[in-house]
Amino acid sequence: MKTALITGASRGLGRALARDLARDGWHLVIDARDPTALAAAADDISSGGSSGGTGGNDGGNVRAIAGDVTDPAHRADLVRAVEGGLDLLVNNASTLGPTPMYRLAALPVTDLADTFATNVLAPLALIQDVLPSLRERRGAILNITSDAAVENYETWGGYGSSKAALEQLSNVLAAEEPDVAVWWADPGEMNTDMLRAAGEDADSAPPPEEAAAALRRLVTDRLPSGRYRASALAGAQ
Ligand SMILES: NC(=O)c1ccc[n+]([C@@H]2O[C@H](COP(=O)([O-])OP(=O)(O)OC[C@H]3O[C@@H](n4cnc5c(N)ncnc54)[C@H](OP(=O)(O)O)[C@@H]3O)[C@@H](O)[C@H]2O)c1
Repeated sequence: MKTALITGASRGLGRALARDLARDGWHLVIDARDPTALAAAADDISSGGSSGGTGGNDGGNVRAIAGDVTDPAHRADLVRAVEGGLDLLVNNASTLGPTPMYRLAALPVTDLADTFATNVLAPLALIQDVLPSLRERRGAILNITSDAAVENYETWGGYGSSKAALEQLSNVLAAEEPDVAVWWADPGEMNTDMLRAAGEDADSAPPPEEAAAALRRLVTDRLPSGRYRASALAGAQ
């Protein structure tokens, strides 16, 4: 059975992707900071997604470990949970930084450091820890980024620069690790807590299940390392 580690899977895109992989028979290790929400999500994922999915998984094996990806002790717990072997790491957990979001002229640099700790340093630390296993099993890494990494939306400079850093880190990693598929992907706008917290009209955005279904193709078709957009992947089906 293939094993995936998905960060930030208690809601939104992470949970939707976890549901899809569980239905495909993957063993999953998932995290999020709020243990209650994470436990509820684990039940939902292992039962095939009664809240929004199509159901019908084969009793997916889900291990939930609550914690913050910026905490080295928590990351060590995650790595221990996959020491039997890992086939896919999804760095999905992310922060916008302080909301309402600041223009760069006023953005406190200590807050930006926290944003980079979650969105860049923690993903890289997890990658470093699981790379030996991924190399051995010819596994894959999916780093979730954003169009804010490449567009110049006002007030999105802190979050966007962290996602740009994650993109370039992924780009170099893809060149350095020929035995591992490295994908960095913009899921597009989704109706989630994050988009709502950004002050956007989340209700008119598509549900995260649509982006998850598109991103699943990276895994099922083992597409080459590179940058992807969920909308383009969905359109190409
Ligand atoms: N929503 C959009 O429109 C949009 C657009 C472009 C890109 N994205 C990207 O898509 C990904 C998923 O976003 P989403 O909209 O699904 O977000 P979301 O609904 O806010 O879910 C975020 C998940 O990550 C967890 N999380 C946050 N910080 C964490 C931390 N430090 N350690 C561990 N878990 C943490 C959250 O649970 P806890 O809070 O309990 O920790 C939750 O499970 C993110 O990388 C985001 O940047 C989103």
